[in-house]
Amino acid sequence: MGTELDNSLLEDILSQVRPLIGRGNVADYIPALAEVSPEHLGIAVCTTKGEIFRAGDADMRFSIQSISKVLSLTLALTRYQESEIWQRVGKEPSGQPFNSLVQLELEQGKPRNPFINPGALVVCDLLQTRLTAPKQRMLEIVRQLAGSADLNYDRHVARSEFEHSDRNAAIAYLMKSFGNFDNDVITVLHTYFHYCALRMSCEELARTFVYLANKGQPLGSEKPLIDARQARQINAMMVTSGMYDGAGEFAYRVGMPGKSGVGGGIIAVVPGEMCIAVWSPELDAAGNSLAGIAALELLAQRIGRSIF
Ligand code: DON
Repeated sequence: MGTELDNSLLEDILSQVRPLIGRGNVADYIPALAEVSPEHLGIAVCTTKGEIFRAGDADMRFSIQSISKVLSLTLALTRYQESEIWQRVGKEPSGQPFNSLVQLELEQGKPRNPFINPGALVVCDLLQTRLTAPKQRMLEIVRQLAGSADLNYDRHVARSEFEHSDRNAAIAYLMKSFGNFDNDVITVLHTYFHYCALRMSCEELARTFVYLANKGQPLGSEKPLIDARQARQINAMMVTSGMYDGAGEFAYRVGMPGKSGVGGGIIAVVPGEMCIAVWSPELDAAGNSLAGIAALELLAQRIGRSIF
């Protein structure tokens, strides 16, 4: 089946991909993200049995950015009928950058999927309607899933995003003009930027998202967060849209559902077995961690896993 998964395998993989550092670019359209050193490199795996493997900067927290879009969708699935969500946002890959406005205008303000910025903003709008304190509620859930009571938002990153929010604000106002946005745009942007500014380590991410490998069941919890069918559906959408314009390349090279963030993190799921989280801040042209994808590709090969 492949090499056995252990810490030394992960260390070996990191040493193989480290030479790629220098070939990508740290995101700088959010100035606070550009302050992060490109030299960081970490990986962690959490199995459905709760075993943890890790290497490099696996304990160092970073801005999870768009990885939070999986959490906001999950939270929406616990508060809404599925049909109420899917009449506001689609399930198709966009074939466009994550913050593009073009398609949104052509498609009457209905975003293609919940993982591009417009889709995540609609999901945040839905949460704003049904939750009295959406930022606090998200923190409670993530702290519980990650098993870290001190996990928090990076206020510096959230403020930096807010100060450079023209494009996301334009996206939200465009959707409002089409009647696909109910709440005050500024309030929802505030919630969205905080979700993106969650600071988590690879180990915390791997623990948090292992419910996607475990039929919706979080580690050490009696209650499923979402049902097995919903977990499968999220994984399916991660395959088609989790890596934006890079989804095809990621499916080809890694062969797992994945979700990236412009902070350089990626989570990947092996259904029934494990969640993997990697972090390397330099991104490729599609906005996905360059060395992170290479590390996942190597790991998939070495342990002999792919959903295909
Ligand atoms: O809204 C934004 O542009 C960022 N807060 C999140 C973008 C992101 O992480 C896209 N992922 N690769």
